[in-house]
Amino acid sequence: MKSLGEEAKALIQKATDLKQLNDIRVAFLGKKGKLKNILKTLGKLSPEERKEIGQLANKIKEELEELLKSQETTLKQKALEEELRKEKIDITLPASWIDIGSSHPVISTLIGISEIFISMGFSVAEGPEVEKEEYNFDMLNIPKDHPARDMQDTFFLNNGDILRTHTSPVQVRTMLTRKPPIAIIAPGRVYRKDADPTHSPMFHQIEGLLVDENVTFRDLKGILKIFLESVFGKDVGIRFRPSYFPFTEPSAEVDISCTVCGGKGCRVCKGTGWLEILGCGMVDPNVFKAVNIDPDKYSGFAFGLGIERIAMLKYRITDIRLLFENNMRFNHQFKGIR
Ligand code: PHE
Repeated sequence: MKSLGEEAKALIQKATDLKQLNDIRVAFLGKKGKLKNILKTLGKLSPEERKEIGQLANKIKEELEELLKSQETTLKQKALEEELRKEKIDITLPASWIDIGSSHPVISTLIGISEIFISMGFSVAEGPEVEKEEYNFDMLNIPKDHPARDMQDTFFLNNGDILRTHTSPVQVRTMLTRKPPIAIIAPGRVYRKDADPTHSPMFHQIEGLLVDENVTFRDLKGILKIFLESVFGKDVGIRFRPSYFPFTEPSAEVDISCTVCGGKGCRVCKGTGWLEILGCGMVDPNVFKAVNIDPDKYSGFAFGLGIERIAMLKYRITDIRLLFENNMRFNHQFKGIR
């Protein structure tokens, strides 16, 4: 019985969880336990022996119960500590990431550019993306056989309308409904059959139009200089190059010094040091005639620029398609033009 007691004590001390402890209790002290089994054999002994063994059995039983109890307390404490350790929250850990939306780089560029012109007194005009050929071409002095009308450039709808190929028809719509003085910008989507790293079949333009008495090319240069310097910085180089548009005369294209090499010549500017940034000119008298504005009394200038191109040059994005993939990790990097 003594060795049984020692065996039970050793087991109790080694027990690692409450279930094991209970199993030991049942095995030794339970109704069919080892201790009871020995006590059942007491009948064969003398009364003295029986008394002595009975006392011993009680003593061992008490000792074991005490030991079981203290071991139970220890294990419960351990289990609690383990649980607390597992459930511990480290409030210094960074929280899981919450994605906060931001304007698309094309839209923030569009808004930034618009704000510059609004600050100079221009207001915002709009026109439809599904447009009449008349407004997109005819009234802008673009003859029927002009290459810009080529089926390859223009998306035609079955009813003969087109998707506007530039924002210039908004010039026509504005001048048909409003009399000078006019100072508007017209931002919006335009469409051309074109797709490569620098061309997308849908892109955004901003049109500008200013009509009043005595408007000169000098006004155009001044306004565009203010605009380009606020987008690209005071040190940006600006040059006007003679060009041709059917709806302006004279016409010019404007270049800025390369945003990558600063004018030294690199891959982006193809070694020229210059980047073409917009088209502009003085409103052609034929356009004024088409909208019933007297070209002898009024003059005006117009300009048009591609928003994606400005965003690409400002942020040095080399593939226009990145602007339309809507990868949030890409979009998040650009926080506006100003
Ligand atoms: N509409 C022209 C284009 O898309 C740009 C332009 C606008 C040029 C106004 C002159 C004046 O290329």
